[in-house]
Amino acid sequence: MTLKNSDFDYIRQLVRDRTGVVLSEDKDYLIESRLTLLAKEAGENSVSGLVAKVRQERFNPLYELIIEALMTNETFFFRDEHPFQALKKAILPELLNHRQLERTLNIWCAACSSGQEPYSIAMLLCEYFPQLISWNVQLIASDISASMLERASSGRYTKHEISRGLPQTLLQKYCQPCGNAWIFKDNIRRMIEFRQINLTQAFAPMPQMDIIFLRNVLIYFDIEMKRNILAKVRRVLRPDGYLFLGGGETTVNLDDAFEPVQFDKAVCYRLRQYQQ
Ligand SMILES: C[S@@+](CC[C@H](N)C(=O)[O-])C[C@H]1O[C@@H](n2cnc3c(N)ncnc32)[C@H](O)[C@@H]1O
Repeated sequence: MTLKNSDFDYIRQLVRDRTGVVLSEDKDYLIESRLTLLAKEAGENSVSGLVAKVRQERFNPLYELIIEALMTNETFFFRDEHPFQALKKAILPELLNHRQLERTLNIWCAACSSGQEPYSIAMLLCEYFPQLISWNVQLIASDISASMLERASSGRYTKHEISRGLPQTLLQKYCQPCGNAWIFKDNIRRMIEFRQINLTQAFAPMPQMDIIFLRNVLIYFDIEMKRNILAKVRRVLRPDGYLFLGGGETTVNLDDAFEPVQFDKAVCYRLRQYQQ
């Protein structure tokens, strides 16, 4: 261990203040190992030197790099499969029916990390709902991390990333080779609008959403922050819209305005007062 307890406390507080993410003490090994890597990249002799620098200069650019280094960005294409089956078989057919006069559909993929989730949704829309070509479809993908958003908007994925969940048929149809990686074709990339949104802050104005993906991010917040975010999410969800959370997440005992709805093996959430 090269970091003092007070340095760990400082880093934990810094990450929590900026992102809401709670790094408990059993994550000290993660703080130490990720910041050791960052210290090397930043040309610092030691991780404690790195921390001392940001403690002295509040606006040091290392501040953002430390936060980025401590986020968990794990994601892959069509993660967990069932939510995408529910979209395809039940939710999109229902919403397309409800919206057939206005012909608008708004989807928000919050905390999208490096983008595999919004690209999965974009491919699903193209594959199974070609009629949407004449609709006004807005697919917004957001994350707190500027570097993740940069990667996501590049649409470029390594072979390893592609091998995690993207079927060959979709790869051949929607991507093209780019060096030893693959890149999404323009028609798919143009479908997604990337925005930097910190879920712990007030949301900038955005359209009312038909579908919100907020998956595998609430787990990192404390109960009060989860409630606070769900209350804001509730205000941007249309009355008959659907919210998807990660497999280990729920609104139950956090926000009674939502009720769980099961579609085959997928659970999602809708606003309780809504009656079909
Ligand atoms: C584990 S990834 C989830 C990716 C994707 N939703 C999925 O389920 O595969 C969590 C993401 O949450 C983002 N994140 C963490 N705190 C955030 C905050 N306060 N506001 C917005 N995004 C945040 C991280 O940058 C990271 O990309």
